[in-house]
Amino acid sequence: MDTPLARLHPACTPPADSFADALMTGLRKSPKQISAKYFYDAPGSQLFDEICDLPEYYQTRTETALLRRHAPEIAALMGDGAEIVEFGAGSLRKIRILLDQGMAHTYVPLDISGEYLQDVVQTLAADYPALEVRPVVADFTLPMDIPGQARRAGFFPGSTIGNFRPEAAAALLRRMRAVLNGGGLLIGVDLVKDPTRLHDAYNDAAGVTARFNKNLLVRANRELGADFDIDAFAHYAPYNVPMQRIEMYLVSLKRQIVTLWGEQFEFAQGEALYTEDSHKYTIENFREMAVSAGFSPRAVWTDEERLFSVHWLESR
Ligand code: AVJ
Repeated sequence: MDTPLARLHPACTPPADSFADALMTGLRKSPKQISAKYFYDAPGSQLFDEICDLPEYYQTRTETALLRRHAPEIAALMGDGAEIVEFGAGSLRKIRILLDQGMAHTYVPLDISGEYLQDVVQTLAADYPALEVRPVVADFTLPMDIPGQARRAGFFPGSTIGNFRPEAAAALLRRMRAVLNGGGLLIGVDLVKDPTRLHDAYNDAAGVTARFNKNLLVRANRELGADFDIDAFAHYAPYNVPMQRIEMYLVSLKRQIVTLWGEQFEFAQGEALYTEDSHKYTIENFREMAVSAGFSPRAVWTDEERLFSVHWLESR
């Protein structure tokens, strides 16, 4: 029977492009999937910072060393009075290496997690009193409009570009180029290597990456009132050799029914929610992609073991 209460809620439609909408839509798909950008609520951003300090996660350490080693040259390329826009700023640790060179006039950090950005920006602004800091809460995968005509230096470290399929990655580079007003882009890219080394980086002994992955379900339970049985999901992150990418999954260890916004979703035993791709490149492949996106690759820096690369791309 139809109750008056039921008629007050005719449709359970979450707001477009919200976590709720993405999860509903993704759970209806086969295979079940969701964009990796939803990892980054405040606890997820914190877990990611913990990943960056793990012994197995060579990426952050290697990239940071490259930025330190080449900071004077990078500063010269960005130029005096530079306006630096960082895409997905996170903890704001790496930017300090560049800011310490003293060439930047303005810093525009973009991040999807407003709460987290708010927090970290305070400390940064206090540490660099002469710097103009203009934080923007934004999802850089959506159309971006950053007010101002100044030529900008883009900063996109961490190999976040790896979260996108090559086609989408090229499209994203193109859109970043559009907001740089003719300036260049400094971008970090993780490289193809011994698959065991890659595997270990996403399957750390302390289980932090597993917690990071499962935080998505914790977030869904807390924020959306879902009822995922979190202990009945396994973190699984294999390296797909021919696709040159790490794939992350949350695999249901039992048959379970999850309820979200009044809709029921069945997980068969062994069925997964596909949570992340992390694509790896050769230096050459990446430079080709940059060219296809309208950039001219200029400098590239890598470490002795060729684990990671940092590229300076100019608009052309
Ligand atoms: C932030 C996308 C670069 O792919 O290495 C780390 C995210 N996921 N461990 C990566 C991540 C699991 C990270 N990126």
